Amino acid sequence: ADCFHYDDGVLHCEGASLEKLDRTYGTPSYVYSRATFRTHLAGLKAAFAALDPLVCYAVKTCGNIHLLSEVDASGAGADVVSGGELYRALSAGIPAERVVFAGVGKSDGELREAVEAGIRSVNVESESELSALGRIAARAGRTVRAAVRVNPDVQSRGTPEKTTTGVRGSKFGVDLGQVPALFERAATLPQVALDGLHLHLGSPIHSPEPYVVALERILELTDKLRTAGHTVNSINMGGGFAAAYETGGAPGWDAYAAAIVPVLAPFVASGGQVIMEPGRTIAANAGALLTRVRFIKQAGDRRVAVVDAGMNTLIRAALYDSFHFLWPVRPCDGLVPPHRAGRLHLPGLIRYDIAGPICETTDYLAHDRELPPLAEGDLMCIFGAGAYGMAMASQYNATPRPPEILVDEERATLIRRRETYADLIEAELPPPSATSAAR
Ligand code: LLP
Repeated sequence: ADCFHYDDGVLHCEGASLEKLDRTYGTPSYVYSRATFRTHLAGLKAAFAALDPLVCYAVKTCGNIHLLSEVDASGAGADVVSGGELYRALSAGIPAERVVFAGVGKSDGELREAVEAGIRSVNVESESELSALGRIAARAGRTVRAAVRVNPDVQSRGTPEKTTTGVRGSKFGVDLGQVPALFERAATLPQVALDGLHLHLGSPIHSPEPYVVALERILELTDKLRTAGHTVNSINMGGGFAAAYETGGAPGWDAYAAAIVPVLAPFVASGGQVIMEPGRTIAANAGALLTRVRFIKQAGDRRVAVVDAGMNTLIRAALYDSFHFLWPVRPCDGLVPPHRAGRLHLPGLIRYDIAGPICETTDYLAHDRELPPLAEGDLMCIFGAGAYGMAMASQYNATPRPPEILVDEERATLIRRRETYADLIEAELPPPSATSAAR
């Protein structure tokens, strides 16, 4: 569920018309619904209430500090994968004790930042990283809490190969069989309190079953480790819950919880803490990308609408062939979509490819979509763009990144301004000629 809806034939985000937002902020622009984001955080937490989990929102999904401050206000924490994300989380006021840090290639500097901040858990992904963490914590004279990210070797049906992380041979995590050795090693590192296990299967995981299989393996490993005298106080089940993009039918949180809660309840009853790292399920449908049709052209037998958002703005279709539902903000003939998933086959629609302005063959947002007749200048909305949208936007082709707007009922707040040409060269040092010209 989300708060984007057609009202009088015009798309609104909560109480704000997207036409009005366009007049103030222009296109392309990312628009987020605060109510949706909040409701999702609360809904997920409620579904898993029986486990009283620490919800650590995956900052990589959409890390604007205004959204992270909503995360903080909800009592949730942050899952970070870089020193930069740690900086974002702390800047937004999320307390370090609610931050967990994953990532296969953390630098010494990043480990030091985590140690100094005193975060909840550094999730180590190799024996070498564990040693590095021990060395850095000792040098800082601090104790650091850590977990091992385990590769449970579980395949999930329908998860794109490009976003699968928990199968044998993947670069992520430590093979199940190698985990006890890391706990042995940690026992020799007085500054490392290794007391947790972490996993992340991939994204999105379209059904609860892979979690159940993976968590059963993790619980078996927990027993083994405890029997060997080690401590396992937390199990972090990662992220990966799906969002409704194409089918409209992603499982709800209750469906995931119904399968997962019974598996983890005994661990919680034994005093263990469950951590989860949702991203997409919170942010995807809380955000949309507002774009404008620049030109319409006929290319062979294809009708191409060129819009002002491309793979620089939203790369998911170009990179993973992802599906995003899209529709005009004021559809002609009042052709408002009956739902916002999949391909609609209503009378009066025309088939388009939706292309971006970038000089790359893969720069499309959608292929073969039946849409109400489009005209140049029309506003279009790309739905489900809150997750991995702005977060993956680039300046490719020297294009300033779009603004982000947070809507709260009727009120819209600019939470990141549109970049300028000056932003494009800001970090570059002046070349000799420019220096002399300036003299
Ligand atoms: N935890 C870890 C350790 C992760 O690596 C990820 C995502 C998450 C949590 C959050 O997963 P989520 O709940 O959002 O599914 N750019 C791709 C997705 C890459 C996901 C990377 N890791 C996309 O646009 O589909």
